[in-house]
Amino acid sequence: MSKSPMRVAVTGAAGQIGYSLLFRIANGDMLGKDQPVILQLLEIPDEKAQKALKGVMMEIDDCAFPLLAGMTAHSDPMTAFKDVDVALLVGARPRGPGMERKDLLEANAQIFTVQGKALDAVASRNVKVLVVGNPANTNAYIAMKSAPSLPAKNFTAMLRLDHNRALSQIAAKTGKPVASIEKLCVWGNHSPTMYADYRFATIDGQSVKDMINDHEWNRDTFLPTVGKRGAAIIEARGLSSAASAANAAIDHVRDWVLGTNGKWTTMGIPSDGSYGIPEGTMFGFPVTTENGEYTIVQGLEIDEFSRERINVTLKELQEERDGVKHLVG
Ligand code: NAD
Ligand code: LMR
Repeated sequence: MSKSPMRVAVTGAAGQIGYSLLFRIANGDMLGKDQPVILQLLEIPDEKAQKALKGVMMEIDDCAFPLLAGMTAHSDPMTAFKDVDVALLVGARPRGPGMERKDLLEANAQIFTVQGKALDAVASRNVKVLVVGNPANTNAYIAMKSAPSLPAKNFTAMLRLDHNRALSQIAAKTGKPVASIEKLCVWGNHSPTMYADYRFATIDGQSVKDMINDHEWNRDTFLPTVGKRGAAIIEARGLSSAASAANAAIDHVRDWVLGTNGKWTTMGIPSDGSYGIPEGTMFGFPVTTENGEYTIVQGLEIDEFSRERINVTLKELQEERDGVKHLVG
């Protein structure tokens, strides 16, 4: 018997990321090739944005996706989020050259207050929320705080692009396939302070740290390359990453819903106090997922270098949070 459709809301649906994301969701890349979906697409009420959204929907129609069981356009989150099982909060202003993601806080924070409240009011009580719009961790924190009747654990921020970037850098350094790398993680904020950590990573059971055996490369090349990759792409393309961001969003939700089979991935999630990260902080952690739930990988040793890095990214998140106190009380 075929499954009943899942409702997926995507905000900023006519934007760059939306254009890479929607087709893949409708194709079954995110929720499975046997899972019908209904797309509930939100854009700002602006006439141009709504018209562009209609154009994207025409293209989606023209793909005749067998799994697409319905699709609606919205300008109000209260209708867009009605009964949704998954909400991808992408719509927000992207940064341009020379900006840091936290420079977007003022412009974007308001959006996530409104959308958090709307999710609280009308979404499925089990809704899985992924915040992509920057600064992703703090926006996810705002949305979570604005939705007090939903479980806090349902709100997550996207660190998966950073995780995938780190995987790709390690594959290049070691000359091994991406698929052979396990137990990698990225701690903290989706910002240059993030701490991509390969101390526990293995390739075919061998320690990646031992294979690379180069602390200077880690500190001076790997961490800055991963941490500043977003800026490098803006510099090169004149626009922020879009297809890779959409791909990471698909990976994040797919793994959350369908499970990682014991493998580690990275998700930005509200801390439960693990590793000394204050409860509720929206922080990148190594997780495994099963039956639609994530679990933080426990018992990892945090050495002095790592503790310093983790403290820096935590401090930045706390400063961002302090900057939006007026919005979340
Ligand atoms: P874009 O400007 O191409 O598209 C954003 C779209 O969102 C626009 O169409 C805009 O009209 C819409 N929008 C704005 N406010 C909205 C609202 N309140 N409700 C609904 N829609 C709204 O931008 P993009 O390149 O698609 O990037 C979107 C966001 O994702 C940016 O904030 C960007 O910085 C962020 N991003 C995050 C990651 C990550 O790893 N977390 C990666 C890449 C981009
Ligand atoms: C990225 O990491 O590519 C995105 O967050 C966009 C940006 O502003 O860097």
